[in-house]
Amino acid sequence: MPFSVAIDGPSGSGKSTLAKALAKKYGFIYVDTGALYRAIGLYIQNKCLMSTDVDGIIASLPEIRIEMRLNDGQSEVWLNGSPVGDEIRTPMSSIYASDVSKIPQVRQFLLSLQRDIAAANSVIMDGRDIGTVILPDAQVKIFMTASDEKRALRRYNELISKGIKTTYDEVLKDVKWRDENDRNRTVAPAVPAPDAVFLDNSGLDAAETVDAASAIIDKALKELSGAVE
Ligand code: DC
Repeated sequence: MPFSVAIDGPSGSGKSTLAKALAKKYGFIYVDTGALYRAIGLYIQNKCLMSTDVDGIIASLPEIRIEMRLNDGQSEVWLNGSPVGDEIRTPMSSIYASDVSKIPQVRQFLLSLQRDIAAANSVIMDGRDIGTVILPDAQVKIFMTASDEKRALRRYNELISKGIKTTYDEVLKDVKWRDENDRNRTVAPAVPAPDAVFLDNSGLDAAETVDAASAIIDKALKELSGAVE
C-alpha cells in the first residue's frame, strides 16, 4: 500500500526544501501542490484576467488541462501540454495562486489529480490542505511553522537567487498578506489537521529539519510494519 506524508504550512516555512530531501531519502515521489494553483494562476494572468475575477476564472476552467508527469522522482506540472517553469514563481504569480486557490471550483478541479498520484505512489506531498482535505488518511501529517521574519528572509533569498528583483520589506509584506489570505478563506483554509505533528524550524537548519521529520516518519513506518507482522 502506498505510504503518504502530508506536509502543510504557510509560505516560506521550508516545506518544499524538506519535502524534496525526504523524497530523495525515502525514495518517494515529491508532489508540490502549490505548483498546481500557480499553474492555474499563470493561465489566468496570461489571459489578462484579474486574480479576483471569480466568474471569469471559473468560466476558464474548461480551457485548462493540468497534468502531473513523473520525472526522476519528482512530479512536474504541465499546463495545456507544456511544462511550467520558474514563471510560476514570481511575486505576481504568488498573488494569483493565492487568489485562485480560494475558489471552491478550482480546488475541486485539482482534487482528483492529487489523490490519484497518492493512490498510485508513495508520496511526500506539500501544500496547505493535504492533511485536512486531500489525504485525510495520510500515515504522517506534519505542520511546518517558522517566524514571519525567517520565512520572509528565506523567500527573499530564493527570489534573489532566481534573479527576481525585490526587497526584504516587500517580501515580508507579501508573506503576511498571503498567510492571511490562505488562512481566512472559507474552503480548505490553511490550518493544521487535528492529528498533525507541529514542526517549528525557525531555529533549525535544513539538515536538522530533515532529521526531525525523519524521526516522525520512521516511527510511523515502524508502527506500520509492526501492524502487518
Ligand atoms: O506553496 P505555494 O506557496 O507554492 O502555494 C501557492 C498558493 O497556492 C498559496 O498561496 C496557497 C495555495 N495552495 C493551496 O491553497 N493549497 C495547497 N495545497 C497548496 C497551495
